[in-house]
Amino acid sequence: MKLHYGRIFADKLDGTHGLPRARLADLVQRFPNVLAEVRTRRRDGDYGFYDLGEQTETVSAIRKFAEGVGQAYDHVLVLGIGGSALGTKALINALRLPAWNELDDEAREFFPRITVLENVDPTSIAAALRRIDPRRVFVNVISKSGGTAETLSQYLVVRAWLDQALGSDAAVRHLAFTTDPAKGPLREIAEREGIAALAVPPNIGGRYSVLTAVGLLPAALIGIDIAGLLRGATRALARAESDSLVDNPAALYAGFHWAADAWLGARIHVLMPYSDRLREFAMWYAQLWAESLGKRVDRRGEVVHAGPTPVASLGATDQHSQVQLYMEGPFDKVVTFLRVEHPGEDVIIPGRAGLPEELAYLGGHTMGELLQAEQEATSAALARMGRMNLTVSLPSLSAETIGELIMFYQLATGFAGVWYGVNPFDQPGVELGKRLTFAAMGRPGFTREPAPGASGPPDVAG
Ligand code: PA5
Repeated sequence: MKLHYGRIFADKLDGTHGLPRARLADLVQRFPNVLAEVRTRRRDGDYGFYDLGEQTETVSAIRKFAEGVGQAYDHVLVLGIGGSALGTKALINALRLPAWNELDDEAREFFPRITVLENVDPTSIAAALRRIDPRRVFVNVISKSGGTAETLSQYLVVRAWLDQALGSDAAVRHLAFTTDPAKGPLREIAEREGIAALAVPPNIGGRYSVLTAVGLLPAALIGIDIAGLLRGATRALARAESDSLVDNPAALYAGFHWAADAWLGARIHVLMPYSDRLREFAMWYAQLWAESLGKRVDRRGEVVHAGPTPVASLGATDQHSQVQLYMEGPFDKVVTFLRVEHPGEDVIIPGRAGLPEELAYLGGHTMGELLQAEQEATSAALARMGRMNLTVSLPSLSAETIGELIMFYQLATGFAGVWYGVNPFDQPGVELGKRLTFAAMGRPGFTREPAPGASGPPDVAG
């Protein structure tokens, strides 16, 4: 994996916009303090995801578990939301063939189909339960807290559906929970009913947990090389130990984004993969960056309302949607392209006799070439328009490169927390929403509070 960062600097853009190259020295000078803070906080147990390199025992336990489940099921149903779902979706998207669930058994190498039931939209749930055979499904309920209303309501619906089809005793064999090792409602149910349960390490928050049992179990169940993921992660971890900012790509990526925001007001951070198979990765990134860095108070408790706004985009599709804004709108963005040098498969664009000149040039090229050319052209055009952009390039899509990419972004987020001066591991805003939902749904101990202005006029149109 490589980070190309020249086009963050004004001298590689239009000469006016972008980071003056001299300011790199400023970042380099600040970096020892950033690194020292990360190291101290790691020692204090804050940065649990640094321990997710080669987890030999966890990998063999998960593989054993997945093999035990083995051929008995032909569909895996994952219930979870936020950090308990987005990483798994990114892994499926990147590392399984496109349209996985539509492939026959042979094309899937006899690994199961998989559905991640992330939302509580009744139409999606009803459609999934109509499509899936309860006799052949394995359900992995994932919630670190074990009490998230969305996931637990999904569980209650799915459990009733399983019980009705199979009886409660048999239903238990179709279930595994991934949750806190000791506490929470899911853990309690697992212990009471003898349901298999895997642990989420207590010091790793939801959005940093894809390389724990949270993402590794579903991945192993559908044949993804989970040891490969961790080998890649280990590579990213090793590079993040460097004391030199320019040799520490995750810290540098974070530093550039912070500097663009703090010094130039560029607080919209776009991630634009040029690969359909990284579309879900961009969604995972958006949650990681937003929930980690968007904070009301800083580490000293001062109200700062900090945080960049991440945007998930897709090349080349969004060249015909968002790119007009990125080219000509306000100078408030940094765009990061993700490109895959060797996508694995390519499709030749056939020539054809009698084509008009405006089309004939395409013949004989490949779709892969076109995609790469569009990425390069968009990056160059943005530069010409004075727009900061970076490119992260992966040699290919494999468990190792995806593991490295995931860990790179987790590390960058951990560094960004320090550059921004906020705690990247809490999410008080999310928790407030959860508490208000509990109250609205009548959970004991949570009282309904009137919304601000609830007694005023309805303010509704239409
Ligand atoms: O990153 C986070 O902490 C959140 O997005 C959580 O993953 C999300 O709220 C789901 O929480 P839980 O896994 O406890 O159900």
